[in-house]
Amino acid sequence: MGILITPSILNSDFSDLRGELAKIAGADYAHVDVMDNHFVPNLTLGLPVVESIVRASPVPVDAHLMITDPDRWAPAYAEAGAGSVTFHAEAAAAPVRLAREIRSQGARAGLALRPATPIEPYVDLLAEVDMVLVMTVEPGFGGQPFLTSMLPKIRRTRDAVAAAGLDVWVQVDGGVSRSTIEQAANAGANVFVAGSAVYAAEDAAAEVSTLRDLADG
Ligand code: DX5
Ligand code: ZN
Repeated sequence: MGILITPSILNSDFSDLRGELAKIAGADYAHVDVMDNHFVPNLTLGLPVVESIVRASPVPVDAHLMITDPDRWAPAYAEAGAGSVTFHAEAAAAPVRLAREIRSQGARAGLALRPATPIEPYVDLLAEVDMVLVMTVEPGFGGQPFLTSMLPKIRRTRDAVAAAGLDVWVQVDGGVSRSTIEQAANAGANVFVAGSAVYAAEDAAAEVSTLRDLADG
């Protein structure tokens, strides 16, 4: 399974999104964290800004929706042109219908799991999605330390995907850096969000390739 690097722009300079996006032209997706101050205790940006980001980004947008009502909002992000739209399992009332709506708009559908949410209740949904996002921090903020206690869940998710014979990506988000990306890759992740690791680096583009090399190793 191919390695994908999806830097999060959460800790970038929001007053210069075009410039910040240009720095990650060598990545596979731009990970955009949508927070509503209800599902998580933080507020970032919403649909109109994501529409602009889609137009300005040199790479497809990976929208991570940390919102309470994804059933209502997620399809609109797909319609706006996001290449991938991920909603939280805990928040979705009808995850199968929602994943199908996202896919019918031409986007990949992702299912996200907070640290306290296991993969097991969702194994039968794997055929309906393109990606499972295993959070390795509590969602809400960048710059938190990687939760190594999530490594077994990454492994169980990868094993469940393999057992079902599916081509579902396993993404990790939270605290991914030079010092943690190999553990996540070894546990079975193939898609890596890195926010502060990329945007705090002297050279964001170089950091993307360093992370890719480490994950590929
Ligand atoms: C956290 C977000 C992450 C965050 C990652 O809720 O979902 O995407 O931006 O930032 P780092 O890489 O700094 O943990
Ligand atoms: Zn995220």
